[in-house]
Amino acid sequence: MRIGIVGAGRIGSGIARQLADAGHQIMVSFSRDPERLEKLAAELGPSHTTGSPADAAAFGEVVVVSVPWDELPGVLERIGPLLRGRIVIDTTNQFGGPPLPSPGETAAHFNAGRLPGARYTKSFNTLTAAFQAQAAGRTGAERVVQWLCGDDPDAKATVAALIEDAGFVPVDLGGTADCAVMEAPRREGAVYGEEYRLADARRVVDAVRAGRPIPPTPRYA
Ligand SMILES: NC(=O)c1ccc[n+]([C@@H]2O[C@H](COP(=O)([O-])OP(=O)(O)OC[C@H]3O[C@@H](n4cnc5c(N)ncnc54)[C@H](OP(=O)(O)O)[C@@H]3O)[C@@H](O)[C@H]2O)c1
Repeated sequence: MRIGIVGAGRIGSGIARQLADAGHQIMVSFSRDPERLEKLAAELGPSHTTGSPADAAAFGEVVVVSVPWDELPGVLERIGPLLRGRIVIDTTNQFGGPPLPSPGETAAHFNAGRLPGARYTKSFNTLTAAFQAQAAGRTGAERVVQWLCGDDPDAKATVAALIEDAGFVPVDLGGTADCAVMEAPRREGAVYGEEYRLADARRVVDAVRAGRPIPPTPRYA
């Protein structure tokens, strides 16, 4: 697939590398240093390119938005309309200033509302960039979970396949209103910041769907 990356920093460049390795075509964008973007695209390989955020939004069948929270208003103003009809993967966490979600509202629900017409999903946001780079591609029962939420089932199915391609196991927590446990900050009773594998993740999904507290955080050897 054609993947546009808006914000090719620690998380965005990691996703770019994983999906390029899996055979997807990548355009990276949104750096204050164009040379850094060119270097990254060259490392990805000859069929990968750089562009402006608008170019990446127009290029991508799927567009990864991976910028600091405080950069989101400017990014959405520049490319929001171009994301109508596009599958979006939002990796952001709400570390920053206003505008912020209302009390009790998830950041995913808030951001989906800021992207009218986009086929919004949230994923790749719960684990550090360094851990994601190190853990991608594990096999069998040790494969690491990337949580996923969104209100468009077909968009989530596409993103779940990309998560597999990136070397993780996708686990769908539900809609954007249901995903508080995958959002910052790291805390008791949430999956944010924690490694999960599939068997334990399924127990979390069961608890979230039943409206129960999730089981204690698993610890892996
Ligand atoms: N880092 C993590 O471990 C982690 C984990 C999960 C989720 N997240 C979330 O994912 C999102 C991206 O995080 P990240 O750690 O990948 O960020 P990052 O490394 O700081 O990268 C941010 C990207 O935005 C670009 N950018 C352009 N203008 C900018 C500006 N004025 N200020 C700051 N950056 C600007 C940066 O390019 P240049 O720096 O080249 O200009 C870079 O490509 C954030 O919302 C974060 O909360 C991060």
